[in-house]
Amino acid sequence: MQQTEKETGKLFHELWKKFTNKIFNQSLELIFNRYKVNKFDFKIIKNKDILDAGCGSGRHTVASAYLGAKKVVGIDISKGQVKLNNKNFKHIKNIIFKQSSTDQIGYKSNHFDYVISSGVIHHTKDFEKSLDEIIRVCKKNGKIFLLIYGAGGFRWPIIKALRPMAKKIGINEIKKSMKISNFPLNNIKHFIDDLFVPIQKITPKKEIIKMLRYKKIKNIQFWNTTKTFDHEADFKSYLNEFKKLKTIFSNVKKNQPEKDIAIKIINIYIQKINSILKQKISIKKKRQVIIGEGNHRILMTK
Ligand SMILES: C[S@@+](CC[C@H](N)C(=O)[O-])C[C@H]1O[C@@H](n2cnc3c(N)ncnc32)[C@H](O)[C@@H]1O
Repeated sequence: MQQTEKETGKLFHELWKKFTNKIFNQSLELIFNRYKVNKFDFKIIKNKDILDAGCGSGRHTVASAYLGAKKVVGIDISKGQVKLNNKNFKHIKNIIFKQSSTDQIGYKSNHFDYVISSGVIHHTKDFEKSLDEIIRVCKKNGKIFLLIYGAGGFRWPIIKALRPMAKKIGINEIKKSMKISNFPLNNIKHFIDDLFVPIQKITPKKEIIKMLRYKKIKNIQFWNTTKTFDHEADFKSYLNEFKKLKTIFSNVKKNQPEKDIAIKIINIYIQKINSILKQKISIKKKRQVIIGEGNHRILMTK
């Protein structure tokens, strides 16, 4: 395993292991809600063999078991997380967690009916190799669900600007600040992921469509980008992310120049967003500029 993969696995494991049942159940609820608003056909799951590639806390693995899957395998790069999931969910008989990288999945080709990979391959060192592996282990005419970061909007540029400052301040100081600020654990996970994960690939919609078509993927269906139940749902929630970032850096105890620079940058972005919101342009245009493409949630057929 490469150093970056080790670091990525460790970063996430440190966050997931603090998750309470309540937080985990909320994350399950989100999955069910997104399936519902996107009119997901639950036959894709019922009595099917499923792979959750880059399972993290195991929420998609568990959700699939609850929704009637025959068998679900969750793989993750983090050995510690796989061990923890096998312990936490040993009462669910038809699921198993294994350590494996998405760029070399230890299953033969055309094995699974449905492969889920949510928020994973944009963190891997070879995005396309992971995508190819996910497609390889899915049966012909099987289904694939992919979540990857889309392009545009103000959130990624600000994250990119803040990452070196967060690094200088240090992960422990940032975590302490979020605790002082009473951030819930799922929020802490969300911001630590953005500010510290080693690899973060953004993929424009056009680029992923081209790539999937080239790989002969069919029925490429992008899910609703407003009914997301998260910060991309509306402008208020999106702006709130910037306010939370400001709280994180403001509550850092140590007085470091990076802290003040970060706050100044965040203020500029908040002003910029507020000024666009006041402009006499359509909501669609405002959304394009402020939020951009948002996360791509794609359901497709091999
Ligand atoms: C943002 S989390 C998403 C977790 C889960 N899919 C979900 O939706 O909650 C990313 C996960 O991908 C895992 N990961 C990162 N690189 C990986 C790789 N090369 N192979 C397998 N898992 C990987 C991380 O350890 C982490 O658990």
